[in-house]
Amino acid sequence: MKLKEKVLLLLKTREGEFLSGQELAEQLEVTRAGIWKAIKALQEEGYPIEAITNRGYALQSMPDILSAVGIKQELLKENQYLHVEVEKQIDSTNTRLKQMVTEGEHRDMVLLAEEQTQGRGRFGRAFFSPYGTGLYMSFLLHPQLQYREGELLTISAAVAVAKAIEKISGEEAQIKWVNDIWMRGRKIAGILTEASTSLESGQLEYAIIGIGINVTEPAQGFPEELKDIAHSVFPKAIKKENLRNQLAGEIINQFMSCYGEIRERKFLEEYKKRSFVVGKDISVLRMGQKRNAKALEVDDQCHLKVQYEDGTIEYLSSGEVSIRV
Ligand code: BTN
Repeated sequence: MKLKEKVLLLLKTREGEFLSGQELAEQLEVTRAGIWKAIKALQEEGYPIEAITNRGYALQSMPDILSAVGIKQELLKENQYLHVEVEKQIDSTNTRLKQMVTEGEHRDMVLLAEEQTQGRGRFGRAFFSPYGTGLYMSFLLHPQLQYREGELLTISAAVAVAKAIEKISGEEAQIKWVNDIWMRGRKIAGILTEASTSLESGQLEYAIIGIGINVTEPAQGFPEELKDIAHSVFPKAIKKENLRNQLAGEIINQFMSCYGEIRERKFLEEYKKRSFVVGKDISVLRMGQKRNAKALEVDDQCHLKVQYEDGTIEYLSSGEVSIRV
């Protein structure tokens, strides 16, 4: 942990209380000048730290700024081993984790960013990732799974995200097969899972599960092409203190709990319960072709059973469907 993060952690655990420079320096075994520098850097990042001569420093509230400290505080004991890293700006958390693996990163970890300049979605699409209003996070994990079981990661992540959002917002979150999260009839989050497989064993070497959520409304609103399809978890102004750190922590806790029992597929019932395409008239999009169908059920492999207008039945394992109005 960087000194800046250690100082923040101490101030956060005694929120509102003044701690002298001397006390902080002693506890963290650094110089008072080091503490002063760390405080300055935190203030510049936007943390409301009051500094009063002869009294010291006090964190007045925890603002909605993503931080490893803020997230770690939300994690259950069994998830504390995960390394958590937060960047201000990054091209894409998925892309960066891939690079880190090639540079030798081998830990299970979560990388988050306040902003992505080249956020990626499924099917080569861009994922709109403006500063400070979303949650852009990727897990790097080393699951003991065969390649064909990899889709369980996406499915369990969808359940984890929906449950976490519901817990934090108090509003229902549903899943649009395969991996979009919807609220109030529009998309608020998506998941992009990427993995590397050993050709010899067919086993996953590592997996990167990228999650992108529109948490609050972007300052300039959504771009024209997204206006009618995207939404945010909190479309109205709300009290935002520590909001995204709490949501990130809850997602990590929920996901790691599914991940620990991934083979048992206990999350499947929850996935089915939240899947709202079942029973709907849909279009199946494949290689630029659209075919009308009815979504019949999500089966135990998480495949979507559909019936086309000519009566033929197909089990879709991936791809994209849209709901016909
Ligand atoms: C989709 O809706 O098509 C999937 C969107 C996934 C976006 C997330 S944001 C964090 C991670 N980094 C990326 O570049 N993409 C994923």
